[in-house]
Amino acid sequence: MKLTKEEAKKRIEELRKEIERHDYLYYTLGQPEISDYDYDQLVKELEALEKAFPEFQSPFSPTQRVGGAPLDSFPPFPHEIPMLSISNTYSLEDLKEFDRRVRRLLKGESFRYHVEPKLDGVAVTLFYRQGIFEKGGSRGDGKVGDDITENLKAIRAIPLRLHTSSPPRRIEIRGEVVMSRGEFCRLNELREAEGLPPFANPRNAAAGTLKLLDPRVVAERKLRFFAYGVGIVEGVQIFSYTELFQLLKEWRVPTPPHAATFDSIEEVYEYCKTWEEKRYRLEFDIDGMVVKVDSLEQERRLGHTAKSPRSMIAYKFTPSRVKTRLKGVLLQVGRTGVITPVAILEPVWLSGTKVQKASLHNFSEIQKKDIRIGDLVEVEKAAEIIPYVIRSFPQERTGEEKKIFPPKNCPSCGKAVKQEGVYYRCKNPHCPEKVKAALLYFGSRQALDIQGLGPKVVDQLVDKGLVKKVSDLYRLRKEDLLPLERMGEKLAEKLLRAIEKSKTRPLSRFLCGLGIPLVGAVTAEVLANHFRSLDALSKASQEELMEIEGIGPEVARAIWEYFQNPEHREMLEELKKLGLWEQKESVSIPQGFFAKKSFVFTFYLLEFFT
Ligand code: IVH
Repeated sequence: MKLTKEEAKKRIEELRKEIERHDYLYYTLGQPEISDYDYDQLVKELEALEKAFPEFQSPFSPTQRVGGAPLDSFPPFPHEIPMLSISNTYSLEDLKEFDRRVRRLLKGESFRYHVEPKLDGVAVTLFYRQGIFEKGGSRGDGKVGDDITENLKAIRAIPLRLHTSSPPRRIEIRGEVVMSRGEFCRLNELREAEGLPPFANPRNAAAGTLKLLDPRVVAERKLRFFAYGVGIVEGVQIFSYTELFQLLKEWRVPTPPHAATFDSIEEVYEYCKTWEEKRYRLEFDIDGMVVKVDSLEQERRLGHTAKSPRSMIAYKFTPSRVKTRLKGVLLQVGRTGVITPVAILEPVWLSGTKVQKASLHNFSEIQKKDIRIGDLVEVEKAAEIIPYVIRSFPQERTGEEKKIFPPKNCPSCGKAVKQEGVYYRCKNPHCPEKVKAALLYFGSRQALDIQGLGPKVVDQLVDKGLVKKVSDLYRLRKEDLLPLERMGEKLAEKLLRAIEKSKTRPLSRFLCGLGIPLVGAVTAEVLANHFRSLDALSKASQEELMEIEGIGPEVARAIWEYFQNPEHREMLEELKKLGLWEQKESVSIPQGFFAKKSFVFTFYLLEFFT
């Protein structure tokens, strides 16, 4: 049923307010009321309504966070007030020394300290004119950064409008863009599945994301923002950090959690120590605490050196590192055939967990760091979750250590390995480990979401020869599953139902699950929207692919090559014969207005090699 103009306008406004409120609850208060799924439904409903009633479009609509084509490059972003850094300290002694200097310079005036977590991310600056987000830039060298306005708009934690009826004429809000450890892990899993090198830690992931020229990809990665200071301020008076944080919160701009004020440096030190221990409880990496003279007027009078303000200092935490012995190297074969070396360690405790395995990144890193089996190595936790080997100690060697070489043959199937840059790849499409990794990916949440298709089941299905490629999944019968270990009647039926259900997922999910090199969830969505059918996509030339927004030459070639491979064609043909991805799909929006009016529309009309 169609909405009247008035009804649509009202609902659009309602939805915008509601979405902004949920952004605030999630990003500023950290108290979400609804699930990500329900949030997405609200956005989808709003998108559909704005499409149907373009006259009600607004630049401040949450749907306008990502718009336009990817950029070619970032324009320069000069900083009127330089973006300085802070000097570091590591001990109570250093802190006391800083305190003595501040007291001397302030000639006995009283003052307080404002202490905040030092978020380990990327410094950015945001300009608001009359409360409306105007532009934003990265720090760069402190004098000139990049104009990354479009990418910043794609970060939902950054309000497009300040939540106030009396905004300042102009204000420059400075802060840190970070990635949560959870998002970092999710992103790295996706990247590894796509055959891309993982990011070393959340800071690199946040920095790498902000450098992307396509804001759509930035939006996907769920970056966060926390404001910790101001640059240019016009039309509002702010006297202290305490006041600034209060004001920012009112405006619904997130500020670092657990900020506190203290009178003495001893109390400041106590607080820093507390957070040094508790830091793993936070969602984000913090690498220390920032200690600031609270009064902005005193800050101004204290001035700065060439590099940093005299009114603040960073108390840095000691990183969690530990020494242990490298017992061996395990070779893991990924979904795209990339063989990654994993360190097997003499077990050690590192920030609360027992570590037995660690990442060695790739063979070129092993060589660069001169790591050998039997070496004493130092291990650090990136993002405090995934440990990796930082270095070896060659001076401690006995002479018994063994050099590590890239494999000539795949550890799983024995076929010759091909070197591609720093990667070594098994090109055998029937390689069991590769098939297992591909199946796990196909059934994963971001792809076809086949519940029950976990590593134990996949191992057995492949080892017993029941599944050699994705299409074999759809031929499985209950009799095939029952002999598997720990597979009862109920579980077998459940798995078969889940496999059956996977046939109803949209084309984008299927494309993502196929594991075409360099095609992740975002590109899969772009391709599905553009081609609407696998048949059309499989016939596209590299030139045609490159015409699509967001598809570069490398990705275009990877897609084209994938569909040229006769084995892939054969498998897709088989899926077609099994009746897959041919049905027309009706998707209703379950929430809100459309649900009540039982509004149904069709998308992803899926043909399959017709
Ligand atoms: S105040 C003069 N507060 O740390 C710079 N910085 O090493 C004033 N950072 O560039 C910055 N959390 O990117 C401040 N709560 C916090 C911070 C913080 C992280 C970063 C910031 C700065 C770097 C200095």
